Amino acid sequence: MKTKVLMVSPECAPFSKVGGLADMVSSLSKSLAASGCDVRVFTPLYSSIKRDASFKMSVGTLSVHMGMGIEEFSSVWEAELGKAKVYFVEFNRYFDRPGIYNYGGVSYDDNGGRFSFMSRAALDFCEAIGWIPDVIHCHDWATGFVPVYLNTLFRNRPLGRAASVFTIHNMQHQGIFDEGLLRYAGLDGSSVFRPDNCESLGSVNMMKGAIYNSTKITTVSPTYAREIQTPEGGCGLDGVLRFNAADLIGIINGVDLEEWNPETDPNIAANYGISDMSGKGACKADLQRELGLEVDPGVPIFGAVSRLYDQKGLDLLAEIAQALVDNMKIQIAILGNGDPSLEARLSGLAESNPGRIAARIGFHPKLSHKMEAGLDFFLMPSRFEPCGLNQMYSMIYGTLPIVRRTGGLADTVDQYQEGTGKGDGFVFDDPTASALYNTIGWACSTWYDRPGEIAALRRNGMSKDFSWKKSAKMYYQVYEWASDARKFAF
Ligand code: ADP
Ligand code: GLC
Repeated sequence: MKTKVLMVSPECAPFSKVGGLADMVSSLSKSLAASGCDVRVFTPLYSSIKRDASFKMSVGTLSVHMGMGIEEFSSVWEAELGKAKVYFVEFNRYFDRPGIYNYGGVSYDDNGGRFSFMSRAALDFCEAIGWIPDVIHCHDWATGFVPVYLNTLFRNRPLGRAASVFTIHNMQHQGIFDEGLLRYAGLDGSSVFRPDNCESLGSVNMMKGAIYNSTKITTVSPTYAREIQTPEGGCGLDGVLRFNAADLIGIINGVDLEEWNPETDPNIAANYGISDMSGKGACKADLQRELGLEVDPGVPIFGAVSRLYDQKGLDLLAEIAQALVDNMKIQIAILGNGDPSLEARLSGLAESNPGRIAARIGFHPKLSHKMEAGLDFFLMPSRFEPCGLNQMYSMIYGTLPIVRRTGGLADTVDQYQEGTGKGDGFVFDDPTASALYNTIGWACSTWYDRPGEIAALRRNGMSKDFSWKKSAKMYYQVYEWASDARKFAF
């Protein structure tokens, strides 16, 4: 019989996306469905999602049972995602607004209610259509109440037999709210508002509740699985994770190669591959033109596509960008959005260095593909990085990653060994502007002095296997462990 997997997620590409979580949920679902699992994703119908003719109504009226006797009426739509299915819960009071978690840099203050609703709706929906998954795979804090519901309100119902797997994509966001949220969510405070469960420093912590209640916990790289068990990486939950360490597994994300492949990518100026790289030059010229940089094949472009927040360390780049273009013959290109002050700093640098620094503020998926293809070096000076997808996209596109040795970056990029042409990127340790400056300097001298080695590094990265094959198999294994463990719990 097919293994039935329900993914619950606040984002799912290409329908809704803030960052890599959306890509991961979508590509893992497609990969598992292609290998024979019955995979269905449950996610909100945000107003940004365009319902084309391929969408159909799945359930016209779904009543979602919140606490205090509140019954919310919603509808559920469905669409295909490869061989997987996506269900979208439509509930305008919560999801008909701009942005997913925030707008203009400010989080919506009813996020606790919005995502408790999504979590409860996922379970009420399964019961409404009579589909009982073997495993419910939850992603990040927004889905944190799903495992809590399964162990409490649903425990004695058929759905309560489903195992839960909770994937931590980012410890920095935990979903911390007022205790009152439990009443709206319909959860009994006397059983769950405890320091070993959902309570943390007097508030409700959705991620902590998920860690306590899930059958298995995963995170998106082996190194991050270790880092989050330390006080530096655990964001206050390292103790809880150490306590649950036996159930915590780090699995590196794969890449959706239908979406990210320079041989077939329709978003880029020319397709190319490892055996014929000539198209990459056309992509570089196209990017230079589009961003207003001087069109010059000889000058290396260093760039990034990123959320502009503390995690990503691009403030370090802002600090040294002027010195970089003054002292080295290079160009810099940034696509990103987030922290308004960093957006302004980067735009200012671009204005005062026309032709040499470009900054596009905003979220532009097509341009992100053009950047992967047109850049020579991709910068990820992250302070922490659970997995990171862009360094893998870069290697696939023959663009060399320059990364800090942390989380998934440490697990996926192999350090360049000067003089041998071994490795596939440039790795540094200290989260400082000077370490970043020196590493860019090293890459720049390699570009001008050892072009043969640049070509070798590109080939090395392009030959790596970033497909989902291995990691999807590991998730399948985790689902089996979780199902067995759940059976023993009854
Ligand atoms: P994170 O999830 O922490 O943001 P990842 O590297 O896992 O980091 O994934 C980021 C994803 O979001 C990539 O697919 C990247 O291309 C995309 N992305 C980030 N910022 C932008 C942007 N401004 N425009 C388009 N795509 C973006
Ligand atoms: C998070 C992390 C990122 C990871 C992504 C997908 O947003 O910040 O490192 O790649 O999730 O798992």
